This record gives sequence, structure tokens and C-alpha cells, in this order.
Amino acid sequence: MYAFDIAAGAKPELYRDLLAAAEALTADEPDAIANMANVAALLWEYLPDLNWAGFYRNVGDELVLGPFQGKAACIRIPFGKGVCGAAAATRETQLVEDVHAFPGHIACDAASRSELVVPILDGDRVVAVIDLDSPNAARFDHEDAAGIESIARMLTNRVNR
Ligand code: SME
Repeated sequence: MYAFDIAAGAKPELYRDLLAAAEALTADEPDAIANMANVAALLWEYLPDLNWAGFYRNVGDELVLGPFQGKAACIRIPFGKGVCGAAAATRETQLVEDVHAFPGHIACDAASRSELVVPILDGDRVVAVIDLDSPNAARFDHEDAAGIESIARMLTNRVNR
């Protein structure tokens, strides 16, 4: 069993602790799927107001569903399609306050209202994306984006084998 000391409250402290926990969880394990599975579980447990948290992997320049928590989801997403595909195609974080206003949003779960997708990059190559969905509009802000980006940077070499 793992026990984590995760600060509740202010986002910078929460993400500092989540980064440290994700770092510790993945430090000694070479298997990418195992590492994604544990980080998905960590984010799901400690980030409030989510209805989905997980990974899509880049397999032959198509996003393929990876480890996640939440309802069963779309399996394959082409680069450029939906919020995840936009993050993969642009290699930039996508912070979407209202998914209904995002052209091409893919509704895997009708409950989703806002979404944060952060690419995991190895140089220019997209390794995977981290996808968080919330049933609340505007659930994610720039502090969430910065926090998940720090976890994405740390994970590059840990979900890439
Ligand atoms: N909404 C995403 C699809 C993935 S699910 O939310 C799990 C998108 O538009 O890319």
C-alpha cells in the first residue's frame, strides 16, 4: 500500500505534492503502462471534481486509450480531432472551460463540461497526453495547467519505454 501526504487547499502546494508522489511512484518502474496506471489513479484520488483522468498514448501518430479512471472512453482519436487530438497536433496544453463551445470536442461522457489536456513530449515527439475531464464548467485554470505540465515533464522518460 502507498500512503501519500498530499496538501489539500491551494493548488501550488497540491501540485507540488502530486508531482513528488508521481515521481516517487514511477521512480523504480520501467514499465510505461504501470506508471501511467498509477499516475491516473493518483490524479483521480486527489484532484477534486473530475469525472475522468487518464492517458492517451501516441501509437503510430494516432492517440490510443491508455490507463485511466472514469467511464469507458473512446479508444482511438486521430491527431487534430477533439481536445486530445488538438493537444497532440499542436503539442500545446488545451484548457477548455466549456467543452460545448470547443469545435470537434469528442463527448466520451456526456457529463463532461470542462477539460484539460497536456501533451507529454520527448523533444518534438508526442509520447502521450494526460486528459482530465470535469462535470463542472471552468473547473481547470492556469495553475492546474502548470501543475499537470510539471507532472508531464517529469513523466517523459517514465512512460516512454
Ligand atoms: N473529450 C476528449 C475525448 C477523450 S475523453 O474525454 C476521455 C476529446 O475531445 O478529445
